[in-house]
Amino acid sequence: MTKKAFLALSTALVFASAPALRAADVRSENWQTHCSVCHGDNGKGQTEEGRKKKARDLTNAKWQDTIDDARIVKSITKGHDEMPAFGKKLTEPEIKALAAEVRSLAKK
Ligand code: HEC
Repeated sequence: MTKKAFLALSTALVFASAPALRAADVRSENWQTHCSVCHGDNGKGQTEEGRKKKARDLTNAKWQDTIDDARIVKSITKGHDEMPAFGKKLTEPEIKALAAEVRSLAKK
């Protein structure tokens, strides 16, 4: 294979695998930027910051059953206990997408 062909092939592979990665176990960019520091990539809150602030295990199915989507959106927008409000940093659609992401955590 020529060097040029190799480069073209590896570039194609990188682009082809990116969406597959995202669909699997990788959190969204917003989650990684704004939420992971406390909740972790897996949502269990077992990070140094999460333990300090007592972030709950968001993957807990029983807890998920006790709250509705509106409550999750509200907590992200206005903050909850020691969690800061994100209403000024994120748009409403972004917050709704993150709420859906919180829901998806329960299924694991
Ligand atoms: C500075 C640490 C911190 C960051 C950053 C953070 N959280 Fe939290 N989060 C907490 C703490 C602490 C709680 C309260 C624990 C509890 O509900 O008992 C919490 C609670 C929650 C809850 C449950 C709220 C409820 O109504 O019970 C959700 C959902 C949540 N966070 C989602 C997010 C999302 C999405 C982000 C990113 C936009 C985020 N958190 C960023 C610390 C954080």
